[in-house]
Parts: sequence; structure tokens; C-alpha cells
Amino acid sequence: DWSSLGLILLSFFLGSIPFAYLAGKAKGIDIRKHGSGNIGATNAFRVLGATMGAAVLLLDAGKAALATWLGQPYGGTMAVFAGLAAILGHTFSPFMKFKGGKGVASAAGVVLTIAPLIALICLVAFALAVYLTSYVSVGSILAAVLLPLLMYFLGKPVAYQVFALAVSLFVIYRHRSNIKRLMEGTENPIRRKTT
Ligand code: G3P
Repeated sequence: DWSSLGLILLSFFLGSIPFAYLAGKAKGIDIRKHGSGNIGATNAFRVLGATMGAAVLLLDAGKAALATWLGQPYGGTMAVFAGLAAILGHTFSPFMKFKGGKGVASAAGVVLTIAPLIALICLVAFALAVYLTSYVSVGSILAAVLLPLLMYFLGKPVAYQVFALAVSLFVIYRHRSNIKRLMEGTENPIRRKTT
């Protein structure tokens, strides 16, 4: 019906607000031309510093969490559709010529809203991997692999499991340039290289 369609469009719009780009712009920096060039919290952290990185992380996760939360009164399936629309808005932002981030922070916002314990487990695995390797992409890919497995083995609704599998594959696909760099040994570490 119309209100569900409206919610999906609103969610896509919320997701498409490019906070990493806006944070860069506030500092007079085009984030697309620095670091990995990605319009995401990791690159904001790398290029703009910890405060901006943290702010972008909270805002990118928050916009997707908000969309998911707005969908929840319609049921779990609608919640994940709204969340998915926000993730897609983030990665294919109309404000960024349909480019965008890799969907990690926004997916985290969705999972935090529908399955907080699973979000927490993924976060711990993510943090550990980033700490050990200093590559955020490794943490993101690990969390993406764990997500559908946890949804399945912890007996979450089928809609959540399908959502988790789709998001997992999507996030890993969005990291294809990172995977290539990791294999070549040229991946960008979390911190800016100080030369
Ligand atoms: O969330 C994206 C992260 O996994 C990788 O970011 O900037 O290193 O490509 P980046």
C-alpha cells in the first residue's frame, strides 16, 4: 500500500544522505579524492580524523537504524525492507551520482535495530579483526560472513535470515577492490600514512 511504499522511499532517501562526503566538505576536503576514496566512515576516520570518523559512523548507522525502526510497526519483513532500502540509498546515493559507501555502518544500524545481540557479536569480531590486522575491510568482511550464520543458528525469522544473506553477499561484493588490495598487499590501513 501507499504508506509502505512511502516508507521505502523515505528509507532510501535517509540512506542516501552522504555523511562522509558532507563531513569532508565541512573541512574543505573531497573525501572521494583521498584515502581509499570511499564515501564511508572508515575513510572519514582515515582522512578527516577520529572525531569525524566516529560522527560519520554514528550518523550512517543511525540513518539506517531510523529507517528500520520506522518499518518495525509494519512487522519484521517491512523493517528489513526499510533497512535494505537505506543500505541501498547509502551505496547508490542519488546525491553522489549513484555512488556511495560499502554499506557496513548502515547494515550495522539495521542489525542493531532488529537483532542487537547479533550486532554485538559481529561488532566484537569486527573490532578484534581490525585490532589484529589494522585493516577495517578485514573486520567488515568477517562481520559480513558471520551475520547470516548467526541469524540462522540463533533461529531468527526467515525474513531476517534472507536479509542477512543478501546483505552479506552485497557487502563482500562491495569490498572487491579491498579484497584485491589485500591479496596484493597494498590495502590502506586504518590510519593515514605519516610520511
Ligand atoms: O566500511 C568500509 C570498510 O570496510 C573499508 O573501507 O575505506 O578501507 O575501503 P575502505
